[in-house]
Parts: sequence; C-alpha cells; structure tokens
Amino acid sequence: MKILVATSKPFAPVAIDGIRKVTEEAGYELALLEKYTEKAELLAAVADADALIVRSDKVDAEVFDAAPQLKIVVRAGAGFDNLDLASATSHNVVAMNTPGQNANAVAELVMGLLVYAVRNFYNGKSGSELMGKKLGLLAFGNVGHNVARIAKGFGMEVLAYDAFCPAEVIKKADVEPVASREDLFSQCDIVSLHIPATPETVKSINGSLVGTMKKNAILINTARKEVIDEESLLTLLKERTDLKYITDIMPDAHEAFSTLEGRYFSTPKKMGAQTAEANINAGVAAAKQIVGFLKDGITKFQLNK
Ligand code: 3PG
Repeated sequence: MKILVATSKPFAPVAIDGIRKVTEEAGYELALLEKYTEKAELLAAVADADALIVRSDKVDAEVFDAAPQLKIVVRAGAGFDNLDLASATSHNVVAMNTPGQNANAVAELVMGLLVYAVRNFYNGKSGSELMGKKLGLLAFGNVGHNVARIAKGFGMEVLAYDAFCPAEVIKKADVEPVASREDLFSQCDIVSLHIPATPETVKSINGSLVGTMKKNAILINTARKEVIDEESLLTLLKERTDLKYITDIMPDAHEAFSTLEGRYFSTPKKMGAQTAEANINAGVAAAKQIVGFLKDGITKFQLNK
C-alpha cells in the first residue's frame, strides 16, 4: 500500500517524520510530493497511490480519474472545500478531514494579528488594548472555542453566533450566545470569522453587514477568502475610515485593499495552521485515520457518507 503526501504548502519536517513512523509501522510505503506548483505533478504522483494526504490542495474529478487505486483521501485540516466529495463518492474513494487538529494554531494567530492591529501595526503611534473589548465569533466550532479560551485570558468579553451550535454549548464555554449574525456585528468591537466556505456562506460577509459595526471596529478573517464579498467590503472601508480589515487569506483585490493605509493587513500566505505542532497533529491524525480505515474499516470523520 502506498500513501502519498501531496502538499503544495509543505508540512514541517518533524510532521513528515511522524507521518512516516505511522505509515511504516503499518507496513505501508510513504511517498512525498511537496512544494509542487503544477497540477500535472499531482496527477502523475497519484497514479499508483492507495491513500492520499493533502492540505488545501484541490482534489477534483481530474485527480480522482488519475488515481485508479485510490481508496481514501484525507484533508489534513478542518476545511474541506478543496475536496470534490461527489466525485470522491463516484470514484469509490472515502474522504475525511481531521477536525480540531490545527484549531489552536489558528486561534493563536487570531490573537497575534489582533494585537498587531490594535497597536497600529507597530508604527510607533499610540494604539489600544484588547482587554474589555467585545469579541464576536462567527461560528463556534473548534477554532471558535480556542479563540474564546485565549481571548478570555486577555480580559475580552466574548460573544458568538453559530447557526448550527446550540446556545447551551456556547454558554458552557462561558461565551454569550447572540440570536443572529446581525446582532453579533452590531454589538462587537471585533468580529472574527470561523465559518467554512459553502454555497450558503460564500460572499455572505458584505459591506452592509460590516457597516453595522461600531466605530473603530475590526473584522478579522482566518477562515476563507471566499466568504467575503470583496467589492462591497472595499466600498464600505473607503467610506468608513475608522474600520480595519485583517486577513490570513489574501483577497483577490489585495492591491485595492492595500490602498487602505494602516487599516488593512494580509499575511502573504495563509499561516493559520502553519506551525510544527499543528502540522504534526493534523498530519499524524491523517496518517492514523488512513491506517485505521485500510486495516480496520474505521470511517470516523468520513465526509462523503
Ligand atoms: C484548515 O481548513 O484546516 C485551515 O484553513 C488550514 O489550511 P492549510 O492546511 O492549507 O494551512
């Protein structure tokens, strides 16, 4: 059995060591395709793969067509908008993710970016503090939980809205549930996005919603660029010169956003899950899930049921 790790944005070497250990202990072979830039490289590499581990790498019908032996693909991470689940099913491939494994890494980045933002990107001018501010979490999954935990250490008041998570679960984490997205945006000083990219959420964060935020508010996005309606957000930010937009996923309109001097920051490459710890957690979990499936038929975390 051959397990292929195909990552255009590679794992930390220590994570590969962990994946190799799990793979070899199971008696399987490990193949690596790291830092590839052309889809053709991926198509060639999957030709004899029985299992595939990816990150945000796009796995579509073309990839499944090129992988006749493929039995399982695991997205080492949370968001699986890069996997064509219908195509996986029609190719008899089990698709999984590894929820929660990189959540702390993303949450720590949220807080790091927020400190950077309220201190005016360390430009020497007097900034502000996070303590006492209202932080709104849009979606309260694994990342939301971790952001809440850390934000409370900063002395922030944390609110959350999640269409799928019961208010009791939010309250149990000592976070205040609110009734709607609109309430969250209008009540908070900072809103942090933790929604997946789905047909319902794409372009759902627009200028009119963000425009209800308080004076000097901050919108922070460590989720997906697709959930932002860039055009209307940009129009709003040009009018509301008190607002800031901070993102870990560079917008398509990055150059236009860059004209909002002192009010916009994007990491050059998505960095949320890019820590050795998160790479080990998600990479090793992916390898273990593959071994569990191939040896014992375990389908926990299967997405295309
Ligand atoms: C996720 O969905 O797990 C995160 O966005 C991390 O994505 P990455 O593996 O591309 O860094």
